[in-house]
This record gives sequence, C-alpha cells and structure tokens, in this order.
Amino acid sequence: MSDTITIKKPFDSHVHLRRGAMLRAVTPITAEKFYSAIVMPNTEPPIETVEQAVEYKKEILAALKNHQGVALMVSAFEPLMTLYLTKKLTPAEIEKGVSNDVCKIYGVKSYPYGATTNSQWGFRSILEAKDVLKKMEEVGMPLLLHGEVHLNENNEEEDPYDGEKLFIADVLPRLLETYPKLKVSLEHMSTSQAVDFMEKNGKDGQLVATVTPTHLMYDRRQAFSGGYRPLLHMKPLIKRREHKERVRELVKKGLPFISAGTDSAPHPESKKFSSCCVFGVFNSPVAVELYTQVFDELGCLDKLENFMSMNGPRFYGLEPSSETITLAKKDWQTSEPVVTEEDVKVWPICNTQHGLGNETVHWQVQA
Ligand code: NCD
Ligand code: ZN
Repeated sequence: MSDTITIKKPFDSHVHLRRGAMLRAVTPITAEKFYSAIVMPNTEPPIETVEQAVEYKKEILAALKNHQGVALMVSAFEPLMTLYLTKKLTPAEIEKGVSNDVCKIYGVKSYPYGATTNSQWGFRSILEAKDVLKKMEEVGMPLLLHGEVHLNENNEEEDPYDGEKLFIADVLPRLLETYPKLKVSLEHMSTSQAVDFMEKNGKDGQLVATVTPTHLMYDRRQAFSGGYRPLLHMKPLIKRREHKERVRELVKKGLPFISAGTDSAPHPESKKFSSCCVFGVFNSPVAVELYTQVFDELGCLDKLENFMSMNGPRFYGLEPSSETITLAKKDWQTSEPVVTEEDVKVWPICNTQHGLGNETVHWQVQA
C-alpha cells in the first residue's frame, strides 16, 4: 500500500472564518490547505445583504494578503460568500447575489432558531421562509441546511440528539416536495437517518450533503471519554457509534453528491472551557489529514480526491483546483493552540493538551 497520496487541492464546502482578530488567525490555516471554501454567514452581526458579503470577503482577502510566511502559498485562495436566511433577507437580495460580478453569492444558509452558535437570527422552521425559497428555486441559488429541528410547532425544545432525525423525517421531505427544483445541501450529516435519506434521494447537482472530519472520527464515547470533552462539543452533536459507522460507510461508497465540509468553527478558549460551552469544533489545522486518515482506515483512498476536491466545486459550478497537495503516511502530533493577535487561544481538536490525551494524527500534508 502506498505511503503517499497526491490529490487536487481540496475544497471546503463549509467553514466558519469569523471576523477581526479571530479571522486573521484562522483564515491562513484554511487557505493553506484548501484552494477555496464556502464561508458561513453566522457572524455577529449576520451576513444578510450582498453589501455585507462584499465587506466580509474583503476582510478575508486582506487577512491573507497581510499574512506573513504563507502569503505565496495562499495567494489563490477564493472565499465563496453566503447569506444568512434571516427574517430580513429578501427575494430581491437573492436576485442581486446570484449573478453579482463583485461578489457572487454561492448559497443561503439556514439555521434553526436557537439550535447552534449565532442561530438567533434564524427561522424556527425553514418552511416559514416561503418567498425567499421560491426565488432561490427560480434563480438556482443553493440552500445550505443546518438540518436539525430545535423547536417544535409549540416552540418547545426537542431532544438535541433527535434534531437531525426529526428534520429528515418531517421537514426535509416537505421542503423538497414544495420546491422540487431547489438546489439543496444537507450540511454536516451525522445520523443513519440522514445517510438513508441521501442514499435514496441524493442527486448530483441537486441534493447533496457534506460530512465533517469530526463526525467521521468520533462517536459519543469519545465526546464523554473520562468526562465531558468541550473540544468535541458541536452541533449536530456527536452521535452513537452506529451513526458514525453509517456515515463512514457512506463516504466509502464514493457517491458524487457527498463532499467534505469541515465545519471548522473556532471559538476562544474562554467560551469553550466555560460554564456554557459553545457549539463548534475547530478542526482546520488537522481536517485534511483526518479525512485522509479515515479514508485510509476504510481502505478507500481512491475515493478521497472526489470527496475532498471534486464533488464540492462541481455542485457550486466551479472548476476543481489546478494545484495538488501530497500527503504522507507519517505520525505527528499537535500540542499548541492557535493564538490570535489579541492573545486569545483557540484549541483545535486532536491536540495533546486538551484533546483526548496524546492523540496522534497519522497523515501529514507535505510542504
Ligand atoms: C457553528 C459555529 O460555531 O459557528 N457551530 C457548530 O457547532 N457547528 C455553527 C454551526 O454550523 O452549527
Ligand atoms: Zn457550521
């Protein structure tokens, strides 16, 4: 078996880059390993107009331009902007974004109200956003789904482990039935129910799904290994082993409508190690490596390039990267947090200090 693998430079279908000092600290890490990425709009305040997306894109590119050291390597990185499906988002803004020359909008992200970090601007149910959805269907704007039910019709909270299951059983079929031409991406799938649904209904260019390295690597045994593990705390929650196994089997099939979306979601140490640990796993320093490790474990490294570098761009109507990266099978460890210019520590998963303890990554991106 080969000890190195070369693939086209990956595409991250789902990343959180934040703003300000945090953005400047984490963006170069994504740009080093991914040639392009779909940037989530759940900043504070949210990105809900094309004008705001233009400003946000400028901030991302400025962070890369001013970043020392990797400037050359990341020169071609392209952030692909999205809008947040808030109550203020209008059909007119969708029209404006879909073919905008300065800053094309690649998708609209829906967060269920209250379910996750900065979801306070979302709808309780995606089905309430009728006019915007109709316009998106008409102009071919993809809908990116945080596919969980958080509040039921009486505004009562559902069990957080059931959120995705309920969404798949009830909301998603109704959505697809009402808007049959809408392009949809089910983000960060984490359950056997989502796997069943995608196996049955997934369609290249029409209904796709993304998978995180976190849901492929961990189940809830690790999330509670020896105690509660804040660095693995995210939405959708890390599930039972049976769910993880189904998600792993799915990526092994090499289906054209399943792609890598890291959901790398950095938070300051103070918010992770706190009385109310925020949702979000920071994984960009190890994401490409962990995906490769999982595909190696599954004996399907031949499927890695499509998953990481081809399927995502194709859904968004883009060419894959013309560059390649090479990974070698080599053990390494990460022990340090990323530190912002304001001296805030941001801990990635899989580090030896605050991870699960002495974790080793088995693949390494070659310089
Ligand atoms: C994300 C974040 O921190 O922005 N957190 C997470 O747990 N995945 C939001 C999201 O994608 O749900
Ligand atoms: Zn996310």
